[in-house]
Amino acid sequence: MSRLRAEHLYKVFGRRPEAAVQRLRDGAGREELRADGITAAVIDASFEVRAGEIFVVMGLSGSGKSTLLRMLNGLLDPTAGRVLYDGRDLTALSPRELREVRSRNISMVFQHFALFPHRSVLENAAYGLEVRGVPRAEREERAAEALELTGLGGWERSWPDELSGGMQQRVGLARALATDADLLLMDESFSALDPLIRRDMQDQLLDLQKRLKKTIVFITHDLNEAMRLGDRIAVMRDGRIVQNGTAEDILVRPANDYVASFIQDVDRTRVLTAGSIMEKPDPERLDPERPGGSAGEHAATVPSGTPLAELFAPFAHSTAPVAVTDERGQLAGIVTRERLLAALGEQPTTEVTA
Ligand SMILES: Nc1ncnc2c1ncn2[C@@H]1O[C@H](COP(=O)(O)OP(=O)(O)O)[C@@H](O)[C@H]1O
Ligand SMILES: [Mg+2]
Repeated sequence: MSRLRAEHLYKVFGRRPEAAVQRLRDGAGREELRADGITAAVIDASFEVRAGEIFVVMGLSGSGKSTLLRMLNGLLDPTAGRVLYDGRDLTALSPRELREVRSRNISMVFQHFALFPHRSVLENAAYGLEVRGVPRAEREERAAEALELTGLGGWERSWPDELSGGMQQRVGLARALATDADLLLMDESFSALDPLIRRDMQDQLLDLQKRLKKTIVFITHDLNEAMRLGDRIAVMRDGRIVQNGTAEDILVRPANDYVASFIQDVDRTRVLTAGSIMEKPDPERLDPERPGGSAGEHAATVPSGTPLAELFAPFAHSTAPVAVTDERGQLAGIVTRERLLAALGEQPTTEVTA
């Protein structure tokens, strides 16, 4: 089920934007328009975000990510194209209806989260509810729950300047969670944090997501972050989405040389999974009577979603293959040491695009 849907979105800044869209549709390039003082920030972007997934938009600075995100919550009007939220065309709503949807269903978390210095952590987390006119007792209760969820339980009465940068960013997340909005739009929300704290926040978001099942659009310029968080990832370049797929799709089948150059630095052992490289079981060597087991010796048994990084330890102690089980715990395949090494050495193949 798609919660959010972008259809052929364009955003052009400059004179006569509609005419510029027509030029783009007729094949004009971004550079050509730039020479005329026109910025094509987003060009023909289409995608769907399913309920409960983390959809990541990844691209270098200036590639159009923030502009795209602002169109998704109606802060910016598309020059062309539509945004559908639960099937409703955001671009066709009256200003009042749009404000209603924005305040009730959509929350935004920015990179630099501005806390009010003279309000307590609790009041800061409750701010989104205050704006909506939720009575004090209720908003404080919901804000306290949200702070608890983000690991800030006990800090309610503290002041923002008593918190570290990472904790302040958590207050931002708590503010968004407290509103109960089911769509979270996160624009480089962790980019300003130190690497360790950032990783911590990524873990926390994944953990929260398991429980809360929000629909999240997460923007980042960091491919490793994209791959850790994204159920699906859209890669943007110069205003266009050049690939849209799972981390594994992007790693194994990059759509073009641009994406291929991006993924060179990605840690493949953390993206590829046992299930993606396993060999289907050899019936001769299996014992079908034993669920998840086989007649042969195994170095270990792991679920199919296990990252390759976690297969090294079993192979350090044994030359036997690792058994891979499916979601029901049944044996789905095996990974041999050779298979693991081959998967890590493989160079991704790029499809030739005309
Ligand atoms: N309000 C605006 N007016 C003019 N140009 C803009 C405006 N907002 C963004 N841009 C331009 O659009 C392009 C995409 O910007 P942005 O969406 O902020 O990219 P990103 O978030 O990926 O860094 C950039 O060239 C930027 O300068
Ligand atoms: Mg941006």
